[in-house]
Amino acid sequence: MKRRFIITAGPTREFLDPVRFLSNPSTGRMGYAIARAAAAKGYEVELVSGPVALRTPKGVVRHDVVSARDMKRSVDLLLKQPFDGKTFFIATAAVADWRPKKIAAKKLKKSEMSSVLELERNPDILKSVKGAIKIGFAAETGSNIEEAQRKCRDKDAAMIVFNDVTSPGAGFGTITNRVVFVCADGRSEVLPLMTKDAIGRRIVKFCEAL
Ligand code: PMT
Repeated sequence: MKRRFIITAGPTREFLDPVRFLSNPSTGRMGYAIARAAAAKGYEVELVSGPVALRTPKGVVRHDVVSARDMKRSVDLLLKQPFDGKTFFIATAAVADWRPKKIAAKKLKKSEMSSVLELERNPDILKSVKGAIKIGFAAETGSNIEEAQRKCRDKDAAMIVFNDVTSPGAGFGTITNRVVFVCADGRSEVLPLMTKDAIGRRIVKFCEAL
């Protein structure tokens, strides 16, 4: 069976002027680990990456993006490419939910800046994807499994990988992670602290069994 993996990874940046942006601490490690695991099994892997300091894994095609809207455009283009097999869309990226309403063309002077920043919603990439088997992540602060179950239903995903980003060794920037697989059929699997590479292999295995 031919399989294609389209994976988002890393943060997005939402600029308010050429020198300032809103973002988050994602390093891309989780997404790159999944890409590495899928490529090692010989699958076609398209990695849509926010700005990170990681090397592209062997056998992976990387598409660099900056903002959430860039990321969505790149994912939409890839999904339009014909593929005669199963497509998996895996959303590990920490996408900024909001962007500044106005982007100034020139650096704003302190005197020109307001203490209130007007924002508007970014598109929800995972939710908008059609025609692929979807796996998302839920970055929570605390053991909020119900929220992961809600996200799984809301985004029509086959699975949401829950991680409590406040747990030691888990979440942003770490080499390890502590995750729970929350599946659409109501099953869940609690995994111990593992390397992100090992979790990547488990996620690919999960996809192979679908
Ligand atoms: O990159 P690392 O440093 O290795 O860190 C890994 C990680 C903590 C970023 C990763 O494990 C993780 O939890 N990624 C998801 C972060 C996140 O944005 O979670 P969320 O609960 O806000 O979003 C839920 C899901 O919807 C995610 O799959 C997200 O990619 C997706 N989403 C969210 C908002 C949006 N506008 N578009 C999306 O596609």
